[in-house]
Amino acid sequence: MKIGLLTSGGDAPGMNAFISKFSTLAIEENFEIVAFKFGYQGLIDNNTFVLSKELVYNISHLGGSVLKSTRSSEFLTKQGLKKAIQSYKINELSALVVLGGDGTLKGAKELVKEGVKIIYIPSTIDNDISYSEQSLGFDSAVNAAVDAIDKIKQTMLSSNRIFICEVMGRHCDDIAKNCAIATDATILISSEKDCSLKQIVAKIKLSLKDGEESPSIIVKENITDIFSLAKQIQNNLDIETRACKIGYVQRGTQPSVVDRILARNFAKETITLLKNKKYNKALCVIKGKITSKNINDI
Ligand code: F6P
Repeated sequence: MKIGLLTSGGDAPGMNAFISKFSTLAIEENFEIVAFKFGYQGLIDNNTFVLSKELVYNISHLGGSVLKSTRSSEFLTKQGLKKAIQSYKINELSALVVLGGDGTLKGAKELVKEGVKIIYIPSTIDNDISYSEQSLGFDSAVNAAVDAIDKIKQTMLSSNRIFICEVMGRHCDDIAKNCAIATDATILISSEKDCSLKQIVAKIKLSLKDGEESPSIIVKENITDIFSLAKQIQNNLDIETRACKIGYVQRGTQPSVVDRILARNFAKETITLLKNKKYNKALCVIKGKITSKNINDI
């Protein structure tokens, strides 16, 4: 049996752990893996290589994706989709395993409509795959962000500054919420919880009165300009205020233990589905357990 494998969209910590475990198990089952480089773009361009055991040893602890992972604008065109299907056929694949976020899932659904057999693994730091409690990469991203915020807090505390940290998440608040809780933030600004300058200033005053020396604000990306917010707070309170974006360390970080284990379990479940010829499934975590849903039902 020949199985295609690709990682698409923004990479997520844990993708390499999945690739490693999946490839090892697949080789044991005598499956041949055809890996596509650069996600759906690699499928369109038939940019393939055969994954050997040697290639996938000692990569589980690495962030990123050894298969490379990009967003393909060509795949969104009719012509691109047609080329992708052709490449699936030319390679005589029995199924295609795809890892990625919501864009990748949408793409997978388009391929299923055209007869491609898919197994989808939710892999994105954003945790915005609503049918699954957790996506691969989320836990690592939160840990990386918390680690960075803790360090920022230490230097801010040394001079009693107020500080703002912006975290990733695209349209999903989960990273920001978890970071705010884990770092005892004074204020969380998210899609669900926007605040006016007046409210922010009032809350900071209250926390200073309570004895907080370096009030902190965690902001989800795509909501406000944190640098201008910092200036406004500083002007209002006459206290030095700094802002920083945590940025790509959240995405490029090493996978956490939770994500390494999740990746292995996703890999085992994928092999089970393939062995039983159960296709067009989207893997997920429900009530803490690995399971799958029909892609068309999502
Ligand atoms: O989807 C993961 C993510 O890191 C989001 O949190 C962020 O908004 C986006 O990707 C950034 O994508 P890019 O690197 O393509 O600009």
